[in-house]
Amino acid sequence: MNPLAAGRIAGVGRALGSRVVTNRDLELLLDTSDEWISSRTGIRERRFVGEGEDCVSLAVDASRRALSHAGVEGGDVDLVVCATSTAPEAVPSVASQVGEAIGACGVGAMDLGAACAGFAYGAAVAASMLRSGLATTILLVGVDELTSIVDLEDRATSILFGDGAGAVVLEQGDGSSGFVDHVLGADGRFAPLLRAGHPGSPQKLRQNGREVFRFATKIIPDLVEKLLVRNGISLDQVQYLIPHQANARIIQAAVRRLGMPEERVVINVDRYGNTSAASIPISYPDIYDEMEPGRYIITVGFGGGLTWAANLYRI
Ligand code: UT7
Repeated sequence: MNPLAAGRIAGVGRALGSRVVTNRDLELLLDTSDEWISSRTGIRERRFVGEGEDCVSLAVDASRRALSHAGVEGGDVDLVVCATSTAPEAVPSVASQVGEAIGACGVGAMDLGAACAGFAYGAAVAASMLRSGLATTILLVGVDELTSIVDLEDRATSILFGDGAGAVVLEQGDGSSGFVDHVLGADGRFAPLLRAGHPGSPQKLRQNGREVFRFATKIIPDLVEKLLVRNGISLDQVQYLIPHQANARIIQAAVRRLGMPEERVVINVDRYGNTSAASIPISYPDIYDEMEPGRYIITVGFGGGLTWAANLYRI
C-alpha cells in the first residue's frame, strides 16, 4: 500500500469548556471519591461548558484557532465537516453554523455522527474528498458537549465526561504528508451497550462500562496492527498513537498488548475526561511542534454504536 498521502494537517486548534471540574468538586455532589475516579479512570479533572458556551461555540472557537495556526482564511475552506453527537438542534447542523462563523459560506458543510469514533471517521471522509479532488482545504472538527446528554446525578457516567472541541485544517499538499490508510467499522448488534438520547431528551447516556472496556482494550491493538501490517510499517516508525481518551486504564492495557513505549502514546484524559468526538483532535496541539517528517501517527476512535475507526497519517 502506502499511496499518495492526502490531507496534510496544516493547523490545529482546540477549545474546552471554561469550567474546570475536579474530582473533589464531584465528591461534593455525588457519592464518589477522588480515589475511586482516579484509580479506575485516570481522570483528575474535566471541563464543563460555562455561561454562553455550547457545542457550537466550542466548535467555532477551536476552528478559529486552527485556521489562524494554519494561516488560512475562512474563505479558503471549501468543506466543513463536524463530527458530533450533541448538536443542540437537529437543524441547522453544527458544521453549517461553523461555516457561517468563520466566513466559509456557500461551501459544503455537514455533521457526521459516529459517537466517540466520529473524528476518526471524519478524517477518512475528509482525506477521501481531498484525494478525489472534490475539496482542496477542509476544516475538520470533532466536538461534543457531553454534559447536554449525561445525567449529572448518575455517578457511573457523569464523572467520565467533559465538553470540548478540536479542529484541524487539512490541505491536499504535495502527497508526501497526510493520511495514507483508514479502517472503519460498526456493529449495531452491540448498540445496547451504549445509548444516549439527543440533548434535551429524557433518555440520558447509559452504558455497560465493563463490556465497553473489554471491547476497547481489544479494538485499539487490533486496529493498530491491521494498519501496520497492511502498510508494511513497524511500530518503531509510529511516532505517536492517539487513542480515543475514555479511560487511562483502557489505553495502558492496549499499549501493553502492543508493546509500545508509553511516551509515544498521547494521554490527556486526566485533564479533560472523555470528550467523545473531540478527544483525538484536542490532542494535536500538544504534539504538533514535535512531529517528525517521515514518521507516522495512528489515531484510533471507538464508541457507541458500537463504532470504531483508525487512521494512518504520514507526517
Ligand atoms: O467513550 C465511550 C466508551 N466508553 C468507555 O470506554 C467506558 C469503558 N468503561 C470504563 O471505563 C469502566 O468500566 C468504568 C470507569 C465506566 C467503570 O469502572 P469499572 O471498574 O468497570 O466499575 P464498575 O462499573 O464495575 O463498578 C464497580 C463498583 C460498583 O459498585 P459494586 O456494585 O461493586 O458495589 C459501582 O456501583 O463501583 C461503583 N461505582 C462507583 N463508586 C464510586 C460506579 N461509579 C462509581 C463512582 N464512584 N463514580
